[in-house]
Amino acid sequence: MYTLSSKQRMFLIGLLVFLAGAAFLPALNPALAQRKFERKECLDCHTKFADKYLGMKTIHTIVKEKKCDDCHLRHGKVPALILKKSGNELCYTCHSKEKMGVAKGKVHTAVRVGKCTNCHDPHATQTSHLLKHEGASLCTQCHQK
Ligand code: HEC
Ligand code: HEC
Ligand code: HEC
Ligand code: HEC
Ligand code: HEC
Repeated sequence: MYTLSSKQRMFLIGLLVFLAGAAFLPALNPALAQRKFERKECLDCHTKFADKYLGMKTIHTIVKEKKCDDCHLRHGKVPALILKKSGNELCYTCHSKEKMGVAKGKVHTAVRVGKCTNCHDPHATQTSHLLKHEGASLCTQCHQK
């Protein structure tokens, strides 16, 4: 019959102790395991953002629901503005061209070729419809009276 040498036996026992430790340490200390993976939410750091926008009259529904990553990609230690899609394509992911009537008919040139964010704030405004300016003062941003 094959018997283990004392060296082999010591190695096996050591291995078992190590594996048991690796498997049970996080289980015995779940707080430790959790803290390692805990992520900060955007607004934990962006408190100025919350102060600026979240009290406004019109808040983009997804901003109110704090779904920042519907539009933004998470940034790492180097903070940056990284959007999931650029320009109007970002808006069209939820506001379809068909539904907006941009796909057909006569469309304001500013909507057809311009940026949505020339007129709308992506987060929140004190006006209705997330408009950057109210009433005729919106039009006079680009058109002369
Ligand atoms: C650990 C803290 C922290 C977290 C979490 C964090 N940010 Fe930032 N972010 C910063 C800092 C610091 C800056 C640079 C200073 C500033 O512009 O506020 C920054 C900058 C930015 C900028 C660029 C601002 C500009 O004016 O160009 C954007 C956009 C941004 N963050 C979005 C987000 C979004 C969206 C999330 C969540 C998915 C997020 N951040 C999570 C700390 C954080
Ligand atoms: C509908 C898409 C959308 C959502 C949702 C959104 N953002 Fe943004 N965000 C943008 C766009 C577009 C810009 C660039 C604005 C510009 O260039 O004028 C921007 C710019 C920013 C900036 C830099 C400029 C500024 O306005 O301060 C910060 C910081 C930021 N976003 C944080 C956030 C946080 C935090 C959330 C979630 C609470 C969020 N965003 C949700 C689209 C979005
Ligand atoms: C992830 C989905 C999503 C994206 C991306 C998105 N929106 Fe929205 N938006 C919504 C939802 C949800 C509403 C609530 C009304 C609805 O269901 O149409 C809304 C409403 C609006 C409204 C109407 C607000 C009001 O009170 O009348 C405007 C204007 C608007 N979005 C502009 C934009 C612009 C500009 C962009 C691009 C910068 C954008 N949205 C990107 C989901 C989105
Ligand atoms: C020239 C300025 C201008 C541009 C550019 C513009 N909008 Fe608007 N948008 C408006 C105005 C003004 C209203 C309010 C219309 C009303 O009173 O019924 C509005 C209303 C909306 C609404 C809410 C009303 C509805 O039909 O449900 C959404 C959503 C919207 N815009 C999305 C967009 C998107 C997406 C883009 C880019 C493709 C865009 N807008 C570009 C001026 C603009
Ligand atoms: C972000 C800039 C911008 C804003 C804000 C804006 N427009 Fe325009 N508009 C344009 C551009 C660019 C054209 C095409 C070139 C031109 O005729 O000057 C245009 C053209 C027009 C036309 C001619 C038809 C066309 O599409 O070429 C009308 C009518 C018009 N705009 C009405 C309005 C009204 C009403 C408002 C306010 C609700 C408004 N515009 C706000 C940029 C803008």
